[in-house]
Amino acid sequence: MSKKILILPGDGIGQEVTKSAMQILDFIVKRFNLNFVVNTLDVGGTAYEKFGSPIPDKVLAAAKEADAILFGAVGDPQWDDLSWEDRPENALLTLRKELSLFANLRPAFLFNELSNASPLKEKIIEGLDILIVRELTGGIYFGEPRGVINDQTPNYAFNTMIYNEDEITRIAKVAFESAQKRKGRLCSVEKANVLEVSKFWRSIVTEMSAEYPDVELSHQLADNAAMQLVLNPNQFDVIVASNLFGDILSDIAATLTGSIGMLPSASLDSSFKGMYEPCHGSAPDIAGQDIANPLAMIGSLSMALRYSLEEETVANKIDIAIKKFINQGFRTKDIAIDENYLNTSEVAEKIIEILENE
Ligand code: IPM
Ligand code: MG
Repeated sequence: MSKKILILPGDGIGQEVTKSAMQILDFIVKRFNLNFVVNTLDVGGTAYEKFGSPIPDKVLAAAKEADAILFGAVGDPQWDDLSWEDRPENALLTLRKELSLFANLRPAFLFNELSNASPLKEKIIEGLDILIVRELTGGIYFGEPRGVINDQTPNYAFNTMIYNEDEITRIAKVAFESAQKRKGRLCSVEKANVLEVSKFWRSIVTEMSAEYPDVELSHQLADNAAMQLVLNPNQFDVIVASNLFGDILSDIAATLTGSIGMLPSASLDSSFKGMYEPCHGSAPDIAGQDIANPLAMIGSLSMALRYSLEEETVANKIDIAIKKFINQGFRTKDIAIDENYLNTSEVAEKIIEILENE
């Protein structure tokens, strides 16, 4: 049976990096005889300009049908003043929510050849390999009530950070099981010293740890975890956090590796259907210049093959090709030390060349 892949390039460099991933996808489909049906649609600001909505019904319907979605990036300052509904970011949050993509896996690992690109000293960063498991469909991002009150003195705005026990249990389960497959350490991050919802989160995760005697569980307050990530990142194996704290910590973790342009991510539902996107955004400052690093998007394609498309062997080949690319000294502008780097459009060609020679 064929598997359905939906490609949503979106805005800014999303367009450029998905093009690279599609080149690789075309290659592997032919090379390994994969039975994929691939469809590409507009999303984000690009879709708003054409169809008046950042997430047209057609896109949502196709997304619900797909086994895997490759999502580029959305957003640009030109759309900042639109109402929330029309903003490009709404496409992302709607897809996450409507598809129940509650488990966001954000690996942050260092290619040792790139340790000089990290803002941290080599001895602190060496061997970095962290997985952030971020809850993605709940918490303060979606909590009700929310709103802006404009007819009072003083006016005010509010959001609600809310988690029920099922939401906490299902994300913690993903985190415990991920830790079992890795180094067996899990750090749960919240603000249990201040927030009821965090104290509740901590008690549920603690209770669950009895079922995972092979996982060493620890707890950190979010502010301390942010500091620890910079001071001593190698203490972490898997981190589990709510939507908001996971958002913040994953940007820190990504930056430690030298370039956010290298890091893929997966957002999964309970049956491992998923949306795969690079951790970087649409980067309007460099869009259209053919200098974006497509490795995060190519790595996201690899994650899609691994988790949603049952093609782990091909995923491994792509991961190895990315490693060889770096190993052999090829660079993109964000990780280059001089003017010697490949443009976005050249990276896929090089990766394909490496795959061909395997
Ligand atoms: C991310 C992004 C999004 C988020 C934005 C673009 C809505 O920062 O995926 O980390 O906050 O979740
Ligand atoms: Mg973010």
